[in-house]
Amino acid sequence: MSTLHRGHIFHLTGTPTVQEAAEALVEIPDGALLVNDRGIIEWCGQYVDRPQLDGDSVALVDHGDAFLLPGFVDTHMHFPQVNSIDAYGGGQLLEWLTECIFPAEARFANEAFAVDAAKEFCHRLISAGTTTSLVFGSAFPVAQDALFSEYRRRGLRGVIGRGIQTVGPDAAKPLITSERDAIKLTRDEIEKWHPKSEEEAREALVFAAVVPRFSLSVTPETFAALGELYDHFRGQGVYFTSHLNENNRPGDGEIAAVLGSYEVETYLDTYDGRFLPGSKKGGKSLLGRRSVMAHCVHCQDSELERMAETQTSVAHCPTSQLFLGSGTMPWQRTIAAGVNVAAGTDLAAGDTWFIPDVLNAAFKVHISEIGEEAALHPAQLLHLGTVAGARALDLEDRIGNFDAGREADFVVIDPSAWEPLGNSLEWGLRSDDPVKRTHGRLFTVLMACNEVALTETYVRGKKLN
Ligand code: GUN
Ligand code: ZN
Repeated sequence: MSTLHRGHIFHLTGTPTVQEAAEALVEIPDGALLVNDRGIIEWCGQYVDRPQLDGDSVALVDHGDAFLLPGFVDTHMHFPQVNSIDAYGGGQLLEWLTECIFPAEARFANEAFAVDAAKEFCHRLISAGTTTSLVFGSAFPVAQDALFSEYRRRGLRGVIGRGIQTVGPDAAKPLITSERDAIKLTRDEIEKWHPKSEEEAREALVFAAVVPRFSLSVTPETFAALGELYDHFRGQGVYFTSHLNENNRPGDGEIAAVLGSYEVETYLDTYDGRFLPGSKKGGKSLLGRRSVMAHCVHCQDSELERMAETQTSVAHCPTSQLFLGSGTMPWQRTIAAGVNVAAGTDLAAGDTWFIPDVLNAAFKVHISEIGEEAALHPAQLLHLGTVAGARALDLEDRIGNFDAGREADFVVIDPSAWEPLGNSLEWGLRSDDPVKRTHGRLFTVLMACNEVALTETYVRGKKLN
């Protein structure tokens, strides 16, 4: 049986770049999505133009005045930080990791604790309307099994990989393994959870990734071995993700420490197979169209060029960058370089689960950038939270918008459930110009939204709970 979802639709049609987002924006105030029994969108348009199907083969779900938007894609978040929102470390990234995060993540060695945490993690994703997520996992296989199983049980879409650490400070000791175990555990996880054939991959919602925590958590030996491992699995659609150029406190910040310890010209070189002194090649590259680098606040031009060339995406996490004082990823410079920029909460350095909060922060931090286009367009905000995420995960043929043939991942935003949003939409001034009115309305929906207003989350046509 098919289902016709009636509501106020916003999405970006086609496969626009962020610069093309405004032209791709579609608003259908009394719209409908026809979703077949396999969860595929068969049709999207005005309710009055709906295909005429006989009553026994289609169910109508009328969402009233609520908005239907593509499901949000969170391209960077940390499972073992599920209980660490707003943890005070008394400093920036490296202090926060040592004081708060490594000890919190060590607790995931306990299976019962991890099972509860996995349930909570998935519950929060569904409540936030995050239909697809790229997740930094735990170091511990029991915790990883709990998370992969819970994703499958709940019907969430995601990419998950165990956090790899082979060196680090004393506080990180429980998370550190030998070089050999790091590779074995990662290989075992991929073999256990990643789809085994193209056919399985087409049906799958959950995929595996190779995830070294960051260059300071591993060694040249680890990078060489991970390069071999990733080269082996790359063709099977396994992902790669890590952190890049997040904190540049002079002297002892993350970037200075990476450049100092590896003696490389750029931080990106360490992920690009050029992790030996002088950026000499020491192994295979980990970059590519299924690779996502989080933050990229302080990239050199050559790093942006290399990411664009390899189709490596950025997970942009402004709420986290504010929380840890990391600075602001230069929006205009990054997109002008041709790099795909998607949104990430970076939970729990980012202290929200809700992608519209990340979009809200992105608008605020980038409006003060010097340049011709000072403010992000509302369609660019939607792009950041939907299409760009689908592209970062190489899933753009399956999710990200409501074009026929895509899988029906969407959220329902009900303005009557959150008065500030409802009031602003009902009583706020709108332009007489229809195009400006569409832009203004989408802006309000994204900026004034609150998790309370997000009432339903669907993945591949199925309502999650
Ligand atoms: N760099 C290495 N580990 C982390 C982490 O857990 N969070 C953030 N924001 N940056 C990191
Ligand atoms: Zn992170």
